[in-house]
This record gives sequence, C-alpha cells and structure tokens, in this order.
Amino acid sequence: MAINQTTRTERPSLAVELAGIRLRNPVMPASGTFGYGEEYAPFLDLEEIGAIVTKGLSLKPKAGNPTPRIAETISGMLNAIGLQNVGIDAFRKHKVPFLRTVNTPVIVNFFGNTLEEYGAVAEQLAEIPEIAGAELNISCPNVKQGGIVFGTDPKAAGEVVSLVRRKFSRPLIVKLTPNVTDITVIAKVVEEAGADAITCINTLTGMSIDIRTRKPRLANRTGGLSGPAIRPIAVRMVHQVVQAVSIPVIGVGGIVRPMDALEFLIAGARAVQVGTANFVDPTAMLTITQGIEEFCVEEGIDDINQVIGSLRY
Ligand SMILES: Cc1cc2nc3c(=O)[nH]c(=O)nc-3n(C[C@H](O)[C@H](O)[C@H](O)COP(=O)(O)O)c2cc1C
Repeated sequence: MAINQTTRTERPSLAVELAGIRLRNPVMPASGTFGYGEEYAPFLDLEEIGAIVTKGLSLKPKAGNPTPRIAETISGMLNAIGLQNVGIDAFRKHKVPFLRTVNTPVIVNFFGNTLEEYGAVAEQLAEIPEIAGAELNISCPNVKQGGIVFGTDPKAAGEVVSLVRRKFSRPLIVKLTPNVTDITVIAKVVEEAGADAITCINTLTGMSIDIRTRKPRLANRTGGLSGPAIRPIAVRMVHQVVQAVSIPVIGVGGIVRPMDALEFLIAGARAVQVGTANFVDPTAMLTITQGIEEFCVEEGIDDINQVIGSLRY
C-alpha cells in the first residue's frame, strides 16, 4: 500500500447531545413500549441503544383501564392502557437497582392526575440520582384526568411545565400530543416555561368498532393510534415544532425502518423514539441504528449531526 494512501475504516459518529444528555446514538424506545428496560434485556443489549425510556410513572401504582385495551387495525394499533404503572416507590425499590447496572442514560416518563401530583412526582424523581432526565407526559389520550387535559390547553401546559421545572433541575423533556389544532402553540409555551427538549408526538385519538357486536373494540371506546399510519403526521409535526422552538426535539411516531428514523432526523429531530415496532421486533432499534450508520457511510457522512436538520426544499 502506498504510504499516503488512506483506508476509510473509521465508523461514522452517531453520538448526539440532547439537552445535556450525551447519547451514543439517537435511537431510544418510546415510553410504554419498553417496560422499565429490564423486560427487554433478554432480547437486546441495552448498552447499544441511545437511552432507556421507561413506562409513564405516577405517584401511586395504577391499574389502568378495563380490558380489552388493545385493538389492532389494518392501519395501526389502538391502545387504551390508561397509564398502568408500578408507581414511584416500587420503581425506586424494584426497577432502579437494575437500571443502575446499565451504562445507558435513563429517561423516566411520568404524569400526574392533578397539577399537585405532577409536582410531587417531579420532586421524588429529583431524589433518584440514576435518572439522566425526565419526560413529562402531558399527552396521554386515555385517561380522564391529567395527561391530555394539560397538553391541549396552553395555559395548563405552561403551568405544569413551570411547576415541574422548579422541582426537577436535570434535563426536562416535555411530550406533546398531536390532538390539537396547532402543535406549535403548545410547543412555544412549553419552551418558555422551561422545558429543555420536546418529544413529538404521542398517539392520535382513534376508534374501532366490531361490526357484528356493534360495540367499540376497546372498553374505553376510544384509544391512541400508533404505528406506521401516524408517521407522516408525526414527521409534519416535528418539522413544524423544529421551526417554532430552539430547544431540541425528539421525533416519534410510526418508526419501523432506518429510513423512517432518518426522515425525522432530516426534518430536524435530534433523536428518535421507537414504539409500536418494539412489539413486532424487540431488536428493531438495533436494526434501525445499524441502517442509520449504513446510510451515513453510503452518503460519505462521518457525523450524524450533519444529517440532523439537513432538509432541503
Ligand atoms: C401500549 C402503549 C403504551 C404507551 N404508553 C405511554 C406512556 O406511558 N407514556 C407516554 O408518554 N406515551 C406512551 N405511549 C405513546 C408512545 O410512547 C408513542 O408516543 C406512540 O406510540 C407513537 O409512537 P409509535 O408509532 O412508534 O408507537 C404508549 C404507546 C403504546 C402503543
């Protein structure tokens, strides 16, 4: 080999920085589709994903909605789990010891039924040093109180984010609902109230009916639609939010293939979350990450940050 001939053996860097959290790559699970992390340990190396995002936590354990609470449709999955979770005490006692052993940032998704409860959970999360950041869910369509009530009203959204901001000083990510007329209104309020990043989007409210029984297929009647059907909506909303705010955005909604994740990154998302696809293939995030890397190699890109926001018109 000639002395000055170089061989390109360096792999592209996939590392991104998200509101002060350094991720080895931009791919992480979407809350509610990855348990508390440990459930997926038999299927994939948790140290190969960008972050672990846990199921939404509340102050007290929650049983969720009556069943049936999942319905598959030809154009996506409807769920009305109703934020079933172990509660913050059990999380600390039974889930954190495992998470502590994994060298991957942990982002805890959480919610409250009232403003006060959001504050109380944030206070308790602040006492858990193993948490890299918190994802505040103001967007669940399947609970009567809390969740979406805060996410669709700009005033309520501002109040809850300000309160949580005062109680939790580490990176605070706020997860928005697509069930609004103009998502940028809420995005701007949330940024002003002190959010460090935005996750965009949660599920879209939908309904499915069994034509023989003539009953809704979900006991809750309506549920949140997720999966590939919602991706173009999510990409559009990420694009809008990226233009509207200066804090980083995490893109989520219908990501199954590497090219899906790349769409969000090109639209300006700093990272992406994979949800429903984990149920079909628990290793989906690894395949997606590998495909992103291959795309970079093919395009002669040595750093994923060159892809982020590279949308051309
Ligand atoms: C079964 C299920 C449970 C979910 N639970 C939560 C949750 O606890 N907190 C939350 O913020 N989002 C929750 N979500 C929404 C997802 O995190 C994600 O925003 C949505 O499913 C869209 O992504 P996807 O199309 O890749 O699934 C849940 C979604 C599903 C399908």
